[in-house]
Amino acid sequence: MSSSQLQRMIRGLGDAWPDGVAVAVVDPEEATEPLFPIEEAAVRRAVAGRRAEFTAGRQAARQALAMLGYPPIAIPMAEDRAPVWPQGIVGSLSHCPAVCIAVVADASRIASLGVDIEPFDPLPEDIVHEIGREDEIAGIGPDRRLAARQLFSAKEAAYKAQYPLTRTLFGFEGLRYDQVRRTLRFARPVPPFAKGDPIPVSQWTGDGLCLSLSVLHTGPGGTS
Ligand SMILES: CC(C)(COP(=O)(O)OP(=O)(O)OC[C@H]1O[C@@H](n2cnc3c(N)ncnc32)[C@H](O)[C@@H]1OP(=O)(O)O)[C@@H](O)C(=O)NCCC(=O)NCCS
Repeated sequence: MSSSQLQRMIRGLGDAWPDGVAVAVVDPEEATEPLFPIEEAAVRRAVAGRRAEFTAGRQAARQALAMLGYPPIAIPMAEDRAPVWPQGIVGSLSHCPAVCIAVVADASRIASLGVDIEPFDPLPEDIVHEIGREDEIAGIGPDRRLAARQLFSAKEAAYKAQYPLTRTLFGFEGLRYDQVRRTLRFARPVPPFAKGDPIPVSQWTGDGLCLSLSVLHTGPGGTS
């Protein structure tokens, strides 16, 4: 998997990519722009790999923000590790070894975003059962471990999208895949969301990549 493959995949999506969502992709090996001091403090003691992915994430975020007309600006890491976006912006970050992706949007148009990028490989057998129930996984596709990877990625994207609205931490059992409506739903109330509320995720696979994006347009009860 490489950043150019991911860029190609996103370009190929054309109109399927949601309106108003700016996206940028950076290879951690090519993340050369300096961090802001407040960002630097977050990775002062980090190992090289973590530092590289964090730097690539901030670089990608600033590239995406530039598409919305923002000058370079710090994106601190909160105590709960979530990124702190500038006032009026919603966004999300994800990285895997060779790729980092940032999505941002104007908060007046989109309530929250969640993104996840994964290698499109079968999930290791010993963690499949942690991601979802067998019926959820079977509802996604016939290759159980590959379907589990897709479910993992979708739940991670959805989790990131819901977090700024709920500030609630939960595990994979907190969301359930409804195969009839082909959507994730809250398995229990997570205020302001009710049990059963949908949390939409678009997912694209190919070229060894699994990309998941959750776009919440209007928040609880009115997500689309
Ligand atoms: C947030 C979390 C989902 C990140 O997922 P990951 O696959 O490890 O890593 P990714 O590269 O995809 O994403 C990491 C980025 O997520 C963002 N992030 C971290 N915590 C976040 C949160 N609470 N809400 C939204 N985004 C968050 C950060 O930007 C982070 O990158 P950074 O530290 O460089 O800024 C994970 O670390 C976590 O906290 N999980 C909680 C339990 C869980 O997985 N529940 C699943 C529920 S269905």
